[in-house]
Amino acid sequence: MSFLRYLCAVVLSLGLGAVVGHADPERAALESWPNKIWLDVYKSPTCGCCTKWVEHAQASGFDTAVHHPKDLAQVKDEYAIASDHWACHTAVSEDGYVFEGHIPARYIREFFASPPKGAVGLAVPGMPVGSPGMETENKFSPYQVLLLKANGESEVFAEVKSAQEQYR
Ligand code: CU
Ligand code: CU
Repeated sequence: MSFLRYLCAVVLSLGLGAVVGHADPERAALESWPNKIWLDVYKSPTCGCCTKWVEHAQASGFDTAVHHPKDLAQVKDEYAIASDHWACHTAVSEDGYVFEGHIPARYIREFFASPPKGAVGLAVPGMPVGSPGMETENKFSPYQVLLLKANGESEVFAEVKSAQEQYR
């Protein structure tokens, strides 16, 4: 329980409930964020950058379960990720959204805040140098986070121009 919620509970128990009213569902959702988002991550057992990305996702509040399937391409096919969007690992949420590659957690949060209509997930194709899990000293190459659509098309979801903006 957050301190704020604790305070609310105290306020309510003091009989001010009639004034405060029912909890705002939007705020309740924010407060419960991000523990409800579970990601199954499919990667190769020997991939170091994948492990670092998983750590990044966990540090950003996602719950993760890591899997090492024999055939990663099969997983990507199963979720209909076009091969030009492929990266080293595939994360799948409980409700079936896919997050391919080294996507900064902040964009996954943005996605879940209001999933665009017809979207199936996000992708950062390839493995851009300096993206989360791909950090190397002072090296960063700008990249795009793509929005994947059910019809197989994609559009730009975010332009990532600097290392700093990945961690907001
Ligand atoms: Cu990687
Ligand atoms: Cu990876």
